[in-house]
Amino acid sequence: MRDLFDKIYKDKGPLGKWAEQAEGYFVFPKLEGEISNRMHFQGKEVITWSVNDYLGLANRPEVRQTDAEAAAKYGSAYPMGARMMSGHTDLHEQLQKELAAFVNKEAAYLLNFGYQGILSTIDALVSKDDVIVYDVDAHACIIDGVRLHLGQRFTYKHNDLESIEKNLMRAERVAEKTGGGILLISEGVFGMRGEQGRLKEIVALKKKYNFRFLVDDAHGFGTLGKTGAGAGEEQGVQDEIDVYFATFAKSMASTGAFIAADQEIINYLKYNLRSQMFAKSLQMQLVEGALKRLDMIRTMPELREKLWQNVNALQNGLKQRGFDIGTTQSCVTPVYLKGSIPEAMALVKDLRENYGIFCSIVVYPVIPKGLILLRLIPTATHTQEDIDETLDAFSGIRSRLEDGTYKRLSEAVMQAVGQ
Ligand SMILES: Cc1ncc(COP(=O)(O)O)c(C=O)c1O
Repeated sequence: MRDLFDKIYKDKGPLGKWAEQAEGYFVFPKLEGEISNRMHFQGKEVITWSVNDYLGLANRPEVRQTDAEAAAKYGSAYPMGARMMSGHTDLHEQLQKELAAFVNKEAAYLLNFGYQGILSTIDALVSKDDVIVYDVDAHACIIDGVRLHLGQRFTYKHNDLESIEKNLMRAERVAEKTGGGILLISEGVFGMRGEQGRLKEIVALKKKYNFRFLVDDAHGFGTLGKTGAGAGEEQGVQDEIDVYFATFAKSMASTGAFIAADQEIINYLKYNLRSQMFAKSLQMQLVEGALKRLDMIRTMPELREKLWQNVNALQNGLKQRGFDIGTTQSCVTPVYLKGSIPEAMALVKDLRENYGIFCSIVVYPVIPKGLILLRLIPTATHTQEDIDETLDAFSGIRSRLEDGTYKRLSEAVMQAVGQ
């Protein structure tokens, strides 16, 4: 028998093995200052492309004031306990009503974190006889929710209709035997590559197959659709989404999340979501803060217009300069380059130190080996000047990547750290 920790001492995992070179800089960096288009990293101002504050609400004075007043009035404890026991208030109910109305559903229920919330939603919706069909590129919280499922599950190829149908057929064969039902899960917007889930085509399949549809719209809520109600509204199929999920962690620039559905489904979920039944309720600062933010999303369409003006300027500028931004259909702006992990490190260092650009970097194993994904999140707070500077910087780093500068630099770094 071995000590449980033996494997941890030997193998830190595909990302963890880079911790010594990466921590504090490439991972766990400390972005400082007020959340905006320009923040500070290691004492230097950087154009920030890595926070999901899409509508620029995080640092609006009226938002900061609401948060501060709620904290002063209630402290950070109230209400204590889980919603079901002692953590329920009128304002929680009001927020749920307003969220439901905004996303055009009968009812909504608050979740104290999106991650645990959706995990429990999946867990509560299925029993062992049911079958789950979900996109292979689903966010970790969906994958973890599916992991709790004791019955069968099938993944389909990312956004691939043929594969969706094939797996629905497989699911039907299983469900006919077990007497269960089918839950299909997609994202409204896939957060790495920016593609929208094929919600319209998926709901059309309801004519042929009997399934219920859960959509995680973390990146679509507030950014897509005529009113900002998300990817379902954008694609004209909000009514056919059976359970709609969004988090407050992106457009709402806060913490918390919600699910919305028919009243009877929400009534069931509120008595069966284990992560909510056995965890403390959202504190008032977050509830009052969410009411304020929702009101701004509803009444200030100019924030969404500014966001999209920036998204279009950035994405068109990148395309005009010949960058590969994949097939994004949302604000999420990926830039794909070819290179190794050490080259990616040298490139990002150059971007930060010499150009003052801070964006997220994604490498293997999240994307295929040999690819570097620089992920830009435009917000309503960015300016044309930020975009122009960034486009120039990207042209600069691409030529250095292509002429082998980063390869040479990375070899020196790797030698220095003994890799
Ligand atoms: C697609 C998606 N779903 C769920 C979540 C989790 O939400 P939260 O941050 O509220 O836990 C995230 C990340 O925020 C996400 O990107």
